[in-house]
Amino acid sequence: MTGKIVTVTQQKGGSGKTTIAAHLAVASSRLHYRTVAIVDTDPQGSLGRWFMARSERSSSARPEMGFRTASAWGARYEAQDLAKDYDIVIIDTPPKMGIDGRPAIETADLIVVPVAPSPVDLWATEPTIEMAQSAKKPALMVLNRANARARLTGEMATAFEELGAVAAKTMIGNRIIFASSMGCGSTALEAQSNGPAASEVGDVTHEVMNALGPFTAKSAA
Ligand SMILES: Nc1ncnc2c1ncn2[C@@H]1O[C@H](COP(=O)(O)OP(=O)(O)O)[C@@H](O)[C@H]1O
Ligand SMILES: [Mg+2]
Repeated sequence: MTGKIVTVTQQKGGSGKTTIAAHLAVASSRLHYRTVAIVDTDPQGSLGRWFMARSERSSSARPEMGFRTASAWGARYEAQDLAKDYDIVIIDTPPKMGIDGRPAIETADLIVVPVAPSPVDLWATEPTIEMAQSAKKPALMVLNRANARARLTGEMATAFEELGAVAAKTMIGNRIIFASSMGCGSTALEAQSNGPAASEVGDVTHEVMNALGPFTAKSAA
């Protein structure tokens, strides 16, 4: 296995897992020239629908990224299989993952945990952090839908530290472009390449790349 596996997970629905998974995938490919595959393990299939919409838009004969669906327990097999051929494999997960979510955590090189700035989201994060810690996997919390002026955002940063979790320096703002771009198979990177959303995604992806460490020389797009 040569590629690196990133699992985006958080027990709370609507925290931004699928949005962040898709944006990390596109940014890894376009900004870091990595070959990328995505794995959708959520039966709701939101990432898959995004990918299908994206494929329909694309005029290129060569698929931009690999895509598979998997059950929770099949995530490890599919991701490791893809990692033979791709530099980065990103796994999107359903909310309320129980013990069946372990394969997606245990196979990851890095766990990315999107957290919206609310106490409920923060509480929902604890089991994920515990699972990552017991599997000895590094986890990076990403504050999503943040409003830099809100006091709660500052309180969240302190709470992350108390959880013993590492938080990304970059916060992702609450920006309509994330929702509107995803709906047509795109991302904020493409829809507003010079906008603040694109710049936040670029910065978070940079942090993810740093957390993943050096890659073995393999393919570059
Ligand atoms: N940073 C953001 N700014 C604005 N809307 C967002 C942001 N992140 C996610 N959303 C929206 O919030 C909803 C839930 O996001 P989603 O990525 O589907 O969460 P999850 O996969 O964790 O359930 C979607 O409608 C999405 O478009
Ligand atoms: Mg989702």
